[in-house]
Amino acid sequence: MRKTIVAGNWKMNKTPKEALELIETLKPLVAGNDKTEVVFCPPFVDLLLAVEATKGTNIKIGAQNMYCAESGAYTGEVSPAMVKECGCEYVILGHSERRAYFGETNELVNAKVKKAFEHGLTPIICVGEKLEEREQGITIDLVRMQVKIALKDVDPENVKKAVIAYEPIWAIGTGKTATSVQAEEVCCAIRQVVAEVFGQEVADEIRVQYGGSVNAGNAAELFAMPNIDGGLVGGASLKADFAKIVNYD
Ligand code: PGA
Repeated sequence: MRKTIVAGNWKMNKTPKEALELIETLKPLVAGNDKTEVVFCPPFVDLLLAVEATKGTNIKIGAQNMYCAESGAYTGEVSPAMVKECGCEYVILGHSERRAYFGETNELVNAKVKKAFEHGLTPIICVGEKLEEREQGITIDLVRMQVKIALKDVDPENVKKAVIAYEPIWAIGTGKTATSVQAEEVCCAIRQVVAEVFGQEVADEIRVQYGGSVNAGNAAELFAMPNIDGGLVGGASLKADFAKIVNYD
């Protein structure tokens, strides 16, 4: 039985002081929910205090990125060991904003996924198509390819633990959510490609999220779909309303 996972992707929002305020607001509102795994992914500079502030609660902390090398001359980057030692359990990898603005390729995402597992971090791997790709009818082909490359040479036991976030780029931050049927179609295809490469048992365990304008009003319908195991939430994760998404139903 897969446990629903709702992760807040704070993106480049919240200074340390603001992060603490948001955590203190949300802590009591999501407390006691053992049905859904709750993850906050604040910016790097907030990670230590976020881990400290959520100790003993049901909230887990993730980073929004990391580099794929152990250490060295990579000015401005953050290593997997740094993320791990901060107390993170998760790391978002291959977000479409990283792919679009920072040139991340499927191959780089794959290298990061493997490194994350080496360090005991669980990757939330983002995939998804642009509007023109959907209109061209290549969504499924494209997402299958993104998933296959991201998981290339990953141990099946690790693939079971991974989270894949299907995030159609046209739905991110636009207020335009994919319908539950559109989202389910792609999430189902993701599970299918995992089954083809790693076997059905792995596909039955891997969790597939939907992301893209998830809010308190649409979460329940999306998360009720058979292949959608929760959501990766951007804008709506920065407000108290995020608790309504975590406590959907
Ligand atoms: P959004 O962002 O919820 O603001 O659309 C989702 C994401 O980019 O992860």
